[in-house]
Amino acid sequence: MDGAGGNEDYRAITVTRCSPRIGAEIGNIDLTRPLSELELAELKRAFTENLVLFFRDQKISFEDHVRLAEYFGTIGSHAGKKTHSKPSEDPRVRRFHFDETSVDGISGNAWHSDQSCAPIPPLGSILYMHTIPPNRGGDTVFVSMYAAYEALSDRMKSYLEGLTALHDGVLIFGDGTPRSEHPVVVRHPESGRKSLFVHGTAIRWLNGLPRDEGIAIARYLAEHARTPEFSFRFRWEPHSIAFWDNRCCHHYAINDYFPHVRSGYRVQIEGHAPPAPG
Ligand code: SIN
Repeated sequence: MDGAGGNEDYRAITVTRCSPRIGAEIGNIDLTRPLSELELAELKRAFTENLVLFFRDQKISFEDHVRLAEYFGTIGSHAGKKTHSKPSEDPRVRRFHFDETSVDGISGNAWHSDQSCAPIPPLGSILYMHTIPPNRGGDTVFVSMYAAYEALSDRMKSYLEGLTALHDGVLIFGDGTPRSEHPVVVRHPESGRKSLFVHGTAIRWLNGLPRDEGIAIARYLAEHARTPEFSFRFRWEPHSIAFWDNRCCHHYAINDYFPHVRSGYRVQIEGHAPPAPG
């Protein structure tokens, strides 16, 4: 995915890459209306190629939000028992609202992929922000887990082959949240590319290794995945949208705006299958 540009062969939408490894801003699209077949085909291609899509100036309703998500799959629900985000008036949409009362923290303020503790983790999430903190805080950082995998040494890639890790949702969302075992290296169902599927928030060690070694390698991988060269930091504006592929990227919501308001809504799309070994 390295290389300049974006926009190759797109006829309906515009696709402007945000960084060499991850992220593209989509233009010439109106998400308040149903998409044409060509727009949708191009959007799907841009999603597979860029991992996270960003949109600006889209004043979407719950119906618009859900329509966009349903082009990609079934609407999912949060696997966690205790969460910082809250239900909205529409059961398909969660409210991501933080302000001077958010003393216990905000959603996503640690490196993670969403609910990897689920037996079938979400395909992706679409986050819409209508209100942005006036202090210019509240950015979200995304990293490509393809890039994280590809940058490993060949020796490390062979070492990780066939290993699994327990993703413990209880550590993040409390009792009653699922725990699931997934491969450490997974293959993306659409791109066919390999990526790392571990993050330090839900994983304490890798299975099948002596305990200290499993802990040390899990820590190393979590740290490695934060390499700035694999990342892009998105600056929100009112009515921006970020739509990320949860199967191949991690993200981190920066908590630097308390006590200001940052407010929006998120729709989650169910995954189609458990992560496949790479
Ligand atoms: C999340 O982890 O889903 C929240 C991301 C954000 O608020 O930027």
